Amino acid sequence: MTTPHTGAPKGRGARSDLRLPPGGRDQRQQTRTRATAFPGTPLGTLGHHLAASETDRVIYDLTGIEHQYDTLLAELPGTDIRFALKACPVDEVLRCLTERGAGFDAASPAEIRQALSAGAPADRIHYGNTVKSDHDIAEAHRLGVRTFATDSVEDVTAIAAHAPGARVFCRLATTGEGALWGLNRKFGCAPEDAVRVLVTARAAGLVPAGLSVHVGSQQMTGEAWQRALDSLAETLVALHGPGIAPDHVNLGGGLPARGYLDRRGNPLDPPLDKMFAVIREGMERLNGLTAAPLRLVMEPGRHLVADHGAVRAHVYRLTERAQPDGTRARWLYLSTGKFNGLYEMDRIRHRLVFPTRADDVGEDDEAYVPAVVAGPTCDSDDAYGDGRHPVRVPRALASGDPVWILSAGAYATSYTTQGFNGIRPLPCVCARAPEGQH
Ligand SMILES: Cc1ncc(COP(=O)(O)O)c(C=O)c1O
Repeated sequence: MTTPHTGAPKGRGARSDLRLPPGGRDQRQQTRTRATAFPGTPLGTLGHHLAASETDRVIYDLTGIEHQYDTLLAELPGTDIRFALKACPVDEVLRCLTERGAGFDAASPAEIRQALSAGAPADRIHYGNTVKSDHDIAEAHRLGVRTFATDSVEDVTAIAAHAPGARVFCRLATTGEGALWGLNRKFGCAPEDAVRVLVTARAAGLVPAGLSVHVGSQQMTGEAWQRALDSLAETLVALHGPGIAPDHVNLGGGLPARGYLDRRGNPLDPPLDKMFAVIREGMERLNGLTAAPLRLVMEPGRHLVADHGAVRAHVYRLTERAQPDGTRARWLYLSTGKFNGLYEMDRIRHRLVFPTRADDVGEDDEAYVPAVVAGPTCDSDDAYGDGRHPVRVPRALASGDPVWILSAGAYATSYTTQGFNGIRPLPCVCARAPEGQH
């Protein structure tokens, strides 16, 4: 990685008090002087630290993450939140969520150890991965974890052997419809199989404690939650037959971030209010099917951290050249891409801010050019929208100019390679708002 040139053009420093207008049909709005993690909200703490950063990094706003956690709990009071730490395995983030009362959805013994060392008690950690070896199950049990996800008789038999007496919850399959990342097919079983799995668990000395779903990551529809709740209801009724009464349902992850753009640059605008209403009503319905009230567990990942993290990157080069079809195109190569922080850039677009160029260009159309935005590696997947959807960027961009990449807090540190093309993972910085602000 080259060392970024950080000098702002004379008299024009990077500003941190920036806002974007809500929405925006084209990239022009991203390249004006206003920037926000999502419509209507100033960059605040993130903006301050982005402006002060002279080299590349990923920055998390811990106060923003805490606020997001509190907001989620206000929408769904009493929920046991088990943060899916795969979305942001950063110790400071885990510590601040632990102190707030969160537990963790861990996918491996290594994640369990990280959650424990962040101060989470073992009874607030579950092993949420249905895919695990005998060794991993035994290790999780040795570390004190007593609740395991499952979706097959084979896995339940292994849990009974290596974590005797544990509590298990069975994951139901979903279609993934409406989500950007479906998470279907590999996991989850049909209601009739769930009955078989939980009956087997009980016979093997385990506690058939719950049911779970995951509607797919960055789920964009309330209907997906509705379908998942219908499937949970069907299974709870089917469990009446063998006399199994789960004590909780786990609605998994999937709650969306608010700050992404689609491949063409339009805001994604997920209907969060509707999702929360569907979940609240659905839980009431499920509780009508059981003798004792069901505890609600959720495993948000992206929703808690995406909009409260940003990447400070820099421009490598804005180029123009003929494409194989004979047309001429510009490419904007950045210091970060798919392999060092923006793993999801082929499906979503992050808002980009060019803080040292914005004041130059004002409203002048001529000052912008369409360019395909791409990362720094020798891999052609390393580009926004598979390299097919250009973004409007300031024509004057020069090597070393800082670029702020917003809503980049989810899966940035975990989905980074350890040196593909010799590029090191981004350093990570955690910041807090001054006392009394968020
Ligand atoms: C079991 C489980 N729970 C929760 C999550 C978090 O999902 P999201 O980041 O969409 O909230 C994932 C993500 O892959 C998962 O596999």
